[in-house]
Amino acid sequence: DQIKCEKLDPFSLVADELAVLSDRLRAMVCAEVPKLASAAEYFFKLGVEGKRFRPMVLLLMASSLSAVVGNFNSEEQRRRQQRIAEITEMIHVASLLHDDVLDHADTRRGIGSLNSIMGNKLAVLAGDFLLARASVALASLQNTEVVQLLSEVLEHLVTGEIMQWTTESDQSCSMDYYLQKTYYKTASLMANSCKAVALLAGHTAEVANLAYDYGCHLGIAYQLIDDVLDFTGSKASLGKPSLSDLKQGIATAPVLYALEEHPAMQHLISRKFKTSGDVELALKYVRESSGIERTHDLAREHADRAASAIAAFPPCPSEKAHLCREALTELTHQVVTRSK
Ligand code: FPP
Ligand code: MG
Ligand code: MG
Repeated sequence: DQIKCEKLDPFSLVADELAVLSDRLRAMVCAEVPKLASAAEYFFKLGVEGKRFRPMVLLLMASSLSAVVGNFNSEEQRRRQQRIAEITEMIHVASLLHDDVLDHADTRRGIGSLNSIMGNKLAVLAGDFLLARASVALASLQNTEVVQLLSEVLEHLVTGEIMQWTTESDQSCSMDYYLQKTYYKTASLMANSCKAVALLAGHTAEVANLAYDYGCHLGIAYQLIDDVLDFTGSKASLGKPSLSDLKQGIATAPVLYALEEHPAMQHLISRKFKTSGDVELALKYVRESSGIERTHDLAREHADRAASAIAAFPPCPSEKAHLCREALTELTHQVVTRSK
């Protein structure tokens, strides 16, 4: 007889709703001009939608903070929270399209990047188009605080991306700078969209800030593990080549920790691993240091802080909310143990 594993699967709790959301997203990114249409829909097509991690978190957050039973407006409220998930995914994909242009990336999600298939111009414009559609959806919510939160995210994405290019070598060697950049580039979108979901349910600033904390710390933990996987993963497991950060001249957390044990790495970081053999040497230093382990530990700390935010939510309004809070907590474990 088969032994069934009763472990909570966060994705399955919202899988049906995510399928509806994906269909709606495909409709939302439909453009008038055929060439733009095929570019904009590229990463929304069935099979290349990615993990849909952000929409999953946001739907679980919505259920975790669902209004008390009897709220006559709850269906409309849910629809508005789904909108946040749709907007977040459009912003995310737009940033990836632009990112792949900036990074000259050939692959994304196991297929050719849009820039490699249709060229830079169309990839940039498709990203702009997605941001435009996201803006229209955001405006339709008629909530200026939410508009402000998600508009600030756009500013953060650009700021984080620019910070990554920094030429000041003291900055590229600083863990504080690195974590600030990580907040802007990765965590801000999760943090602010989680907060928006809470605000749309009419929660207090205090509760909305707990939702923010969850998204923020989960996002940072997620990125720290991404940085680890860039060292430990393979092209087959990640859908993109490994060591891409070093090859792009970026010193991530494992490198910054390794620097503390191998000061000689300073030169490699300063010249962005550009001299022949630098990438291999940096890899050797990282492997001979506790950089990977310490990055894992830091990711776990952030994951724990995300879990604490959920634990501090006001009393559960329903059994469903309780289950979804458990799922969000389970995600904080999954994020630090994932291998892809
Ligand atoms: C992926 O980083 C990139 C991001 C998370 C954001 C990039 C932001 C911009 C390009 C600014 C423009 C923003 C908008 C909203 C259009 P990565 O290159 O480290 O990761 P990867 O391995 O997924 O490529
Ligand atoms: Mg990239
Ligand atoms: Mg990049």
